[in-house]
Amino acid sequence: MKVLLTGGAGYIGSHTAIEFIKAGYDIVVADNFSNSKPEAVRRTRELAGVDFPFYNIDVCDKEKLDALFSAEGIDAVVHFAGLKAVGESCQKPLEYYKNNIDSTLVLLEVMKAHGTKRIIFSSSATVYGAPDTVPIKETAPVGRCTNPYGRTKYFIEQILGDAAVADGDMSVVLLRYFNPVGAHESGRIGEDPAGIPNNLMPFISQTAVGKRKELSVFGNDYPTPDGTGVRDYIHVVDLARGHVAAMGYAAAHTGVEVFNLGTGVGYSVLDMVKAFIKSTDVNVPYKFAPRRSGDIAECYADATKAKEILGWQAEKTLEDMCRDTWKWQSANPNGYN
Ligand code: NAD
Ligand code: UFG
Repeated sequence: MKVLLTGGAGYIGSHTAIEFIKAGYDIVVADNFSNSKPEAVRRTRELAGVDFPFYNIDVCDKEKLDALFSAEGIDAVVHFAGLKAVGESCQKPLEYYKNNIDSTLVLLEVMKAHGTKRIIFSSSATVYGAPDTVPIKETAPVGRCTNPYGRTKYFIEQILGDAAVADGDMSVVLLRYFNPVGAHESGRIGEDPAGIPNNLMPFISQTAVGKRKELSVFGNDYPTPDGTGVRDYIHVVDLARGHVAAMGYAAAHTGVEVFNLGTGVGYSVLDMVKAFIKSTDVNVPYKFAPRRSGDIAECYADATKAKEILGWQAEKTLEDMCRDTWKWQSANPNGYN
């Protein structure tokens, strides 16, 4: 079976490419390098031991995507391609709506033209907005997003659902990721954010490697055990394996299904800093700073549905997440550059 990974040069896509190859799938990767580097593709091929086909195309370019489908014969798609920076999406909402939604519409049109019926979509826990209760189940209300990025995820979930209703042979799996962190255990591929990192783990590791002076902990007055924000951090390799499990499910079912991909355990910002220092023996200077606008106190998954239906659960520990992040960061202080 041949699987197209759109956005497969990116952080989650590159790790997922390796897991699909390990599971025996043929893969094709399409990416326009808007937030990734050719070096990531080179290293992913090297780690996988397979020279999988790569297309440097914009998924919004229907002609080029159609040519890819004609040349490769695609059976299923994992749609990672998208812009993902929450803050930037508030500055450039139209760019986010255009890229994320157009790419999905074009992809669905081309899939339809080629009779490709299976799609797995990279959604996000952000569709839950500020949850009424934690842990969050898939049945919790969605759509109360606080930024344009989150709304693109919510809208795309609706679009994919409508497409599956219109074509009873389609299989759509929506994967709502919690907070992906970590890197491949080799330290050869990992998260390579452009500019100053927005996310906690890259900021911690860039501080540890000396690229940033100190971490600002955004808020220490939340109603959480230590006052700092609580999230469900999941190792990117566990997350990648969740996609392989979801593909198995998609092959055997039609309709739409949604799964949380998280560990089910919440850790605070201070838990993460302490775990990083303990796992790596490298110091991370930090200071408390005001809350970051738009942040919520607590967000972690009820991950039982994925376990029961997909037979998947996260296996890696917090120590694995910290150690692998550091392996990547310390060996590649400037990312893929
Ligand atoms: P990433 O930016 O590393 O990867 C996305 C890839 O898509 C990049 O390589 C980028 O160049 C490519 N891309 C973007 N628009 C494209 C287009 N029009 N055509 C072709 N390629 C395009 O991000 P990631 O962390 O690997 O995230 C992958 C997906 O998962 C995204 O859709 C993201 O929104 C979603 N997600 C990520 C997180 C997270 O915290 N990393 C959390 C929830 C959901
Ligand atoms: N934090 C800091 N200092 C930093 C960065 C983050 O204290 O420099 C804190 C935040 O306040 C939060 C926690 O660390 O409490 C995690 O923040 P991240 O930015 O790493 O992650 P978020 O949970 O805010 O956002 C992530 C993804 C979004 C997605 C959201 C909801 O980055 O794309 O989860 O699923 F929308």
